[in-house]
Amino acid sequence: MINVIFVCLGNICRSPMAELIFKKMVKEEGISPSFNITSFGTSDYEIGNPIYAPAQKTLTEHGITGAHIAAQLSLRDVINNDYVLVMDSQNLMDVLRLTSGKFGEKIFKLLSFTSAPRDIADPWYTRDFERAYADITEGCEAFLDYVKRERESALAYDRRH
Ligand code: 4NP
Repeated sequence: MINVIFVCLGNICRSPMAELIFKKMVKEEGISPSFNITSFGTSDYEIGNPIYAPAQKTLTEHGITGAHIAAQLSLRDVINNDYVLVMDSQNLMDVLRLTSGKFGEKIFKLLSFTSAPRDIADPWYTRDFERAYADITEGCEAFLDYVKRERESALAYDRRH
């Protein structure tokens, strides 16, 4: 099992978008049984809230369905997962503060897997949900390629069983 969590600030825009986009990608590849995928926020601002309506609308327009209820990231979540994929430098600093600098080897900015590493701007502030969608999709595709290269034999085994 490959345990993946996406992390942003509020867990109502970017990270639940990434969660649902990535779930659809692995489903389309026939490898969803090999993955546990969810998302968290570094803050407690939006705990219990659904995906922010403009983010959900953008997903729907791209044929992506699903729901998520915002939850705050805990140290246990970092310990229990294989990949902690954050959206920007602030998220990275906040997660490393939570872990006292530990577990850096499994914490990555999502766009660090692309040929143009950069932050994913927060659409809560920019209001550009299409840009967020495009950046997150680019990051998820690059991350999936990475995982497939890293874990090819394990995924092939899971596919057969
Ligand atoms: P997200 O966006 O981190 O992409 O979910 C935000 C959502 C809510 C807030 C900040 C960012 N907020 O301050 O409530």
